[in-house]
Amino acid sequence: MATTVNHPHPNLPPSRGKGTQAHFDVLPGAKPRILTGIRPTGALHLGHYVGALKNWLDLQDTYECYFLIADYQALGDHFDDIELIRESVLDVTLDWLAVGLDPEKSAFVVQSYVPEHAELTMLLSFVTPLGMLERNPTLKSEIDSLPVESRTVGFYNYPMSQVADILLPRAHLVPVGEDQAPHIEMTREVARKFNRMFGRVFPEPGTLIGDVGRLVGTDGDAKMSKSKGNTIMLSDDADTVNQKVRGMFTDPNRIRADIPGRVEGNPVFEYHDAFNPDVGQVDEFKDRYRKGKVGDVEVKRALASALNEFLEPMRERRERYKADMPYVEEVLMDGVRRGRTIAEETMTRVRDAMRISSYTSSWS
Ligand code: TRP
Repeated sequence: MATTVNHPHPNLPPSRGKGTQAHFDVLPGAKPRILTGIRPTGALHLGHYVGALKNWLDLQDTYECYFLIADYQALGDHFDDIELIRESVLDVTLDWLAVGLDPEKSAFVVQSYVPEHAELTMLLSFVTPLGMLERNPTLKSEIDSLPVESRTVGFYNYPMSQVADILLPRAHLVPVGEDQAPHIEMTREVARKFNRMFGRVFPEPGTLIGDVGRLVGTDGDAKMSKSKGNTIMLSDDADTVNQKVRGMFTDPNRIRADIPGRVEGNPVFEYHDAFNPDVGQVDEFKDRYRKGKVGDVEVKRALASALNEFLEPMRERRERYKADMPYVEEVLMDGVRRGRTIAEETMTRVRDAMRISSYTSSWS
């Protein structure tokens, strides 16, 4: 049952959005840690912005954030296109920098550069009953949609590796979309069981579900996704945005501009609400649209210009960083260093607790 996260830390603002009960203590003066991630399977789009990045931007000052580029996890359905994963690591990094995630504040961690992820996944898999994976509704629907030859052990085990992603930096909170909630629930169960068996190593992390949630595709589909060809990319240029907006779905029953149209569930208006800061203009459009007093062309033109205004600063930053790839690589290597530091600390505790390959417990 979703309840609000109870922050035990006096300096923290009340949590926003929905969340689940977390169980952890944070030392006075320390910031609680956040881990969240993205699979690098292409550049990012407006759906990522609305469903994740916008939320992450707000969290950077309050929390110690680890933003994970989960390239191991991307192997799950892209093991036959590793070059795409490799390129996407940089694309995602550029998109993160472009939207304003700050690598000085937050660590950008590439999962495969911190192989402790793999070690922890393996160790945790021995305390995790198979039933946890079998019951996971997100995993089940993803597996069902995969062709049989792609249903690998690695894919089936990805929620386990996601549990390890979260427990490796001993994260207290995980901001994710609704579909990821079962994985965070599983993380809490695994943490609880590990702690019970071996002594307390892991916090039981809470889920922070963003306020905004999901952006529909330009075709009105419930979800924006590259495979459906209904995206607007954060890196799209102005002409591309104009053209995509021109082709957007609107009210299918409105065949002429002078008949009343539906605003609710109309993707053009959903985007206006999400990205056009001129609320007066949006309200006026809605009013005229309902009365059949404005054409789609005018509403779309205003949307395209709002989107371009929103995206322009990101495009500029993206170009600036792209022109300085050594800096971008340094951002990643610095993030990896920070990720490794805490990962090594955690793994020492885990090995000691389990008394396996432990450097501090001798044989005698
Ligand atoms: N499964 C997440 C997604 O596809 C990405 C991810 C990997 C993640 N590791 C994570 C999210 C850890 C939160 C925490 O979007």
